[in-house]
Amino acid sequence: MANEDKVLEALLKEDRTFPPPAYFIEKALVKDTSLYEEAKKDREAFWAKQAENIDWFQKWDKVLDTSNAPFFKWFVNGKLNVSYNCIDRHLNTWRRTKAAIIWEGEPGDDRVLTYQDLYREVTRCANVLKELGVRRGDRVTIYLPMIPELPIAMLACARIGAPHSVVFGGFSAESLRDRINDCQAKLVITADGGWRRGGIVPLKKNCDDALAECPSVEKVLMVKRTGQDVNFVQGRDYWWHEMMARAPIGCEPEHMDAEDMLYILYTSGTTGKPKGVVHTTGGYLVGVSTTHRMIFDIKDDDIYWCTADIGWVTGHSYIVYGPLANGCTTVMYEGSPDWPERDRFWAIVEKYRVNILYTAPTAIRAFMKWGTEWPGRRDLSSLRLLGTVGEPINPEAWMWYYKYIGNERCPIVDTWWQTETGMILISPLPGVTTLKPGSATIPFPGVEAAVVDNTGKDVPLGSGGYLVLKSPWPAMLRTIYGDPDRYVAQYWSRFENMYFTGDGARWDEDGYFWIMGRVDDVINVSGHRLGTMEIESALVDHPAVAEAAVIGKAHEVKGQAVSAFVTLKEGFQGTPQLIEELKAHVVKKIGALARPEDIFFTAELPKTRSGKIMRRLLRDIAEGRVLGDTTTLADPSVVAQIKQQYESQES
Ligand code: WTA
Repeated sequence: MANEDKVLEALLKEDRTFPPPAYFIEKALVKDTSLYEEAKKDREAFWAKQAENIDWFQKWDKVLDTSNAPFFKWFVNGKLNVSYNCIDRHLNTWRRTKAAIIWEGEPGDDRVLTYQDLYREVTRCANVLKELGVRRGDRVTIYLPMIPELPIAMLACARIGAPHSVVFGGFSAESLRDRINDCQAKLVITADGGWRRGGIVPLKKNCDDALAECPSVEKVLMVKRTGQDVNFVQGRDYWWHEMMARAPIGCEPEHMDAEDMLYILYTSGTTGKPKGVVHTTGGYLVGVSTTHRMIFDIKDDDIYWCTADIGWVTGHSYIVYGPLANGCTTVMYEGSPDWPERDRFWAIVEKYRVNILYTAPTAIRAFMKWGTEWPGRRDLSSLRLLGTVGEPINPEAWMWYYKYIGNERCPIVDTWWQTETGMILISPLPGVTTLKPGSATIPFPGVEAAVVDNTGKDVPLGSGGYLVLKSPWPAMLRTIYGDPDRYVAQYWSRFENMYFTGDGARWDEDGYFWIMGRVDDVINVSGHRLGTMEIESALVDHPAVAEAAVIGKAHEVKGQAVSAFVTLKEGFQGTPQLIEELKAHVVKKIGALARPEDIFFTAELPKTRSGKIMRRLLRDIAEGRVLGDTTTLADPSVVAQIKQQYESQES
């Protein structure tokens, strides 16, 4: 392939490999590659077999209907209920008294709900929803902190067939308003407030502000969490605890069609308008329960903790629906990892003897920055498996996680997926796959992923290109709410008969996938297309660096020049010598091509609320443009500060 045709050049080499440890294989649910072979032979039969693990009121007639592609249908005419699968079916077993949810509040309060308790709360809540006028098919917006009422409300919606739209508690009144209006929600479930670093997030206040411009909303159901005085609109607002106390226990689950909508989840698009990703019932539940069980090697005595917020898809699929469908004990934590101290996660692992921990690279890099003393204070010996999701994990962060959290004992499952995919698609199976730090390894059985060039042709192993999915999978999004054209344009138009992920990737000689980030983040230096991920990893490989964001800055000669924003670990100073050292380090790890033109030290990087670095804003700063949309940032003040510092340094 001629140089200019290359989609992405891969330069960073990573040779370390970690086969599954013998002790792990011995007890693993999946020990060999037979599932891959079985799925390869007949993908639909494989998924149909997995669907047998779900309780259906009526069995499907056809596994996959492709007649109206890309509007695929899975488990056609199957009837089921997600809340029944997550709760009722466990009640006839010993799991009735098993902990379903172990919850810890930020102030240190805690609560354990058994499956029996969950049944009581969810059926009561379902009856409350009905009393407030919610009917099958009505949309309910949920704007709650990470408290047990959040999964209870979701499951109650699922029980009566009302699709939910969970809006992350960190979003502003305007974001909430746009999301309510897009789906025309009838009811909003919120709380007086939520705890964050000891302070109160004023959820009800935000909700009141939003509702001034939300004509579809008839009623508001409010949980009392923080207890401060709040505005209360008679006839519109209802207290959760009062309604629940009156509501009867027991509520027949609606018989939903496999293709009925389970939920909408908004994700930020490249344009300002949020996209309402639509997930349906049957395929979604099959997909999330199967991947959860196999990838996290779930056994009945495991305590499993996914640290995501339920406002993101990771929380939907891998705190709530996957784990509960599997009858697993799932841990939920309300607050921040550094409250009251920087060992809060490790204190929770120690307190509940957590066995499986699933978190994000952004959190791991923060822990690296804070230092090893924090995990060192706590007993982490209960851990047996670790996971990551959300971004490519830099090999150094992977090694840190492996060593200081997993004590070199625990496999790490690096799971690649998207809000749109609903379920994990590329990931190791921990008892089977040899790990390579920084690679999400290979597609899950029954998933057909590939790396293609501009024309949609597979690139040879060892090269980079666009990450695509060549066949449908059960938990895939079905459409964008109210905008089917956008669904087709966004995902199914770039390549014929393939789903385009928007990510760049390469596959290596062993067929392992290395995700190189969003293709919008690619840098073009003198005609070479470089993924930001590799240069960032080379920087994070240096002992002084905690985190790095790399962008392409307009350059007269090279087209684009590499510009790096770097945060340092505690105890390091951003001296001119260090700048030279870091440039040399990148040259050593990758080559002169990737040498940063300039390096800028900053205390923080601008991130979305789910922890992804917003490189677009850094490009705006570096090229002296007015800042683009900052409303999806976790902390908009960070970017203003960087801009100021950057400009004063430049002048
Ligand atoms: C990125 C989160 C590399 C990727 C579940 C994807 C990853 C986007 C990984 C989706 C991973 C997620 N390795 N990159 N293991 N996991 N990504 O919708 O760019 O919040 O397209 O879903 O995150 O983000 P989303």
